[in-house]
Amino acid sequence: MSSEEGNIGTEQQSIPKVGLPKASVRALIDNSPIASVISNPRLPDNPIVSSNKAFSDLTGYHPDFIIGRNCRFLAGTATEPWLTEEIRRGVRERKPVLVEILNYKKDGTPFQNAVLVAPLFDDGGELEFFLGSQVEIDSDGPSLAKARRMRATEIVKDLSKRQREVLRYIAKGLLNKQIAHELDLSERTIKMHRAILMKRLDAPSAADMVRLAVEAGM
Ligand SMILES: Cc1cc2nc3c(=O)[nH]c(=O)nc-3n(C[C@H](O)[C@H](O)[C@H](O)COP(=O)(O)O)c2cc1C
Repeated sequence: MSSEEGNIGTEQQSIPKVGLPKASVRALIDNSPIASVISNPRLPDNPIVSSNKAFSDLTGYHPDFIIGRNCRFLAGTATEPWLTEEIRRGVRERKPVLVEILNYKKDGTPFQNAVLVAPLFDDGGELEFFLGSQVEIDSDGPSLAKARRMRATEIVKDLSKRQREVLRYIAKGLLNKQIAHELDLSERTIKMHRAILMKRLDAPSAADMVRLAVEAGM
């Protein structure tokens, strides 16, 4: 853990300026109704380079604060260190992780965050970004996270074998070109599968599709 005490944005360190990522990266999360961020692990401390409106709505932070910072500002005094370690491990090993962790909003309100952190690779197979997607879950009531997982599993079960294969690669963070290479299919075919998958999964953005696939345990 960092020496940081909380979430109120009292850090003094300077925040590096990050250029706006390509439109294609922003498009990954812009249309998502789920709070989402994109971070750039090629920059020092893996700062957030893009966030969507749902993320500001959920956390209370303005993009001016968010962009350029590592996502650790959501963690605070009662955040479970072993869960933070799981996220760190996913980042280190470049594997998707889904954990339910205690986080804090800008006004200090704690919330249970079912957060997905997943790598996104570039055309050449190099790690390019991480996707983070945050869902607030009710810690008292029936677990929304569990309901989401069950729904995701049901939907994925009904897909064809080929669709599942494509989705598995999407969840691993691969782009169409690499998926085409892995499955020995044309990029056009993969694009078609992707479009069909988005419809079948009722996923308004690629970020939602990655989340759903990980929730389904792919
Ligand atoms: C894309 C992305 C999204 C993240 N989202 C969250 C989050 O919502 N909540 C959280 O507690 N940590 C999140 N993390 C993890 C923190 O950024 C950070 O790695 C973690 O708190 C460990 O902090 P440390 O480096 O100070 O040990 C995210 C990491 C990445 C790369």
